[in-house]
Amino acid sequence: MEKTLLITGGAGFIGSHVVRLFVQKYPGYKIVNLDALTYAGNLENLKDIENEPNYIFEHADINNAEEINRLFTLYKFDGVIHLAAESHVDRSITDPNAFIQTNVMGTANLLNAARVLWKGNEEGKRFYHVSTDEVYGSLGETGFFLETTPYDPQSPYSASKAASDHLVRAYGNTYHMPFVITNCSNNYGPNHFPEKLIPLFINNIKNNKPLPVYGDGKYTRDWLYVVDHARAIDMVFHAGRNGETYNIGGFNEWQNIALVKLLCKEMDEKLGREPGESEKLITYIKDRPGHDRRYAIDANKLNKELGWYPSVTFEEGLSKTIDWYMANDEWLNNVTSGDYQKYYTAQYK
Ligand code: NAD
Ligand code: DAU
Repeated sequence: MEKTLLITGGAGFIGSHVVRLFVQKYPGYKIVNLDALTYAGNLENLKDIENEPNYIFEHADINNAEEINRLFTLYKFDGVIHLAAESHVDRSITDPNAFIQTNVMGTANLLNAARVLWKGNEEGKRFYHVSTDEVYGSLGETGFFLETTPYDPQSPYSASKAASDHLVRAYGNTYHMPFVITNCSNNYGPNHFPEKLIPLFINNIKNNKPLPVYGDGKYTRDWLYVVDHARAIDMVFHAGRNGETYNIGGFNEWQNIALVKLLCKEMDEKLGREPGESEKLITYIKDRPGHDRRYAIDANKLNKELGWYPSVTFEEGLSKTIDWYMANDEWLNNVTSGDYQKYYTAQYK
């Protein structure tokens, strides 16, 4: 069936993998990628598909309601997959307003435009909101986040994502907006901006720079290969039940320090260094304020209802990720020049 879909934030890390999957798998769909190209957005991520006939890029800001309304009127979208956001917790601690603006108000602008366009004609339409497991707060040593876990966000980033989740549900309840929400754990893979743990540390190991581990390093995250997140989004967009939430996770918990040591070991092998050489770069630094101790997702609802399960093991995914960063010097050099250096100096001073 022909459809016109809006994907927001498609020039970012996860968005670019989602855009690629949809453009290649659904030649009958017109895919409109809307992105403001902030520091995190990069059209280089989509070089391989930019000339496909079913792909269109729109350089626009979700905070500009007038422009968003114009694009909804122009394209008459049948569905929205909303990923555009400010996404880095550390940046939300230094500049919360940018997160409140884009993640809350930007989402409201999209919801308002969809509501007007679909009013009275909601059948077959879908607003898919891509969210995070961080809305659930922090776990103790045991237990998992379920779809029914109460929201308890702890950082300006997660609070802004929680607010946007609530707005989407409220529009569903009040205006019959057809929607679905997914809350995913930590992604990793190619095209990840090197401010987040895995790509930052790969880049630093490559360049023999210190590896800044926050606090005692015993914080735990559940890691998922980005292509498996994109696969889950495809399944939920097409077969998820209306008005439902699905958790997505890797069934793959790691304490930060164990993960960093694994990364060092893999990189020593790939770079032909002596075993243990990269570990010497590990440096414990002051903790992130309000740092969530542990995240762990129970993704069994998605598995039982739609049969989704990660297709890539962590060992395979990490190896592919390191190989990608080693083979893409130009990409890495481009994104780590200019403003990145200022960010890095301020964050790790
Ligand atoms: P990212 O920071 O790599 O990319 C965000 C993209 O959104 C960029 O292309 C950026 O240019 C664009 N954008 C930012 N502000 C915009 C605006 N005002 N208007 C239009 N475009 C704008 O983020 P990511 O890691 O790919 O995350 C994508 C989504 O997935 C986010 O909503 C995030 O909350 C969610 N998420 C991320 C993870 C993760 O581990 N990275 C896990 C779960 C959920
Ligand atoms: O759980 C999903 C979330 O995962 C997403 O919603 C966010 O968009 C994404 O950024 C990510 O958030 P985290 O804060 O978990 O990811 P980050 O890579 O920033 O940090 C992972 C862990 O590593 C965390 O415990 C903090 C720690 N860390 C991070 C950096 C950048 C360090 O010890 N040192 C660092 O320099």
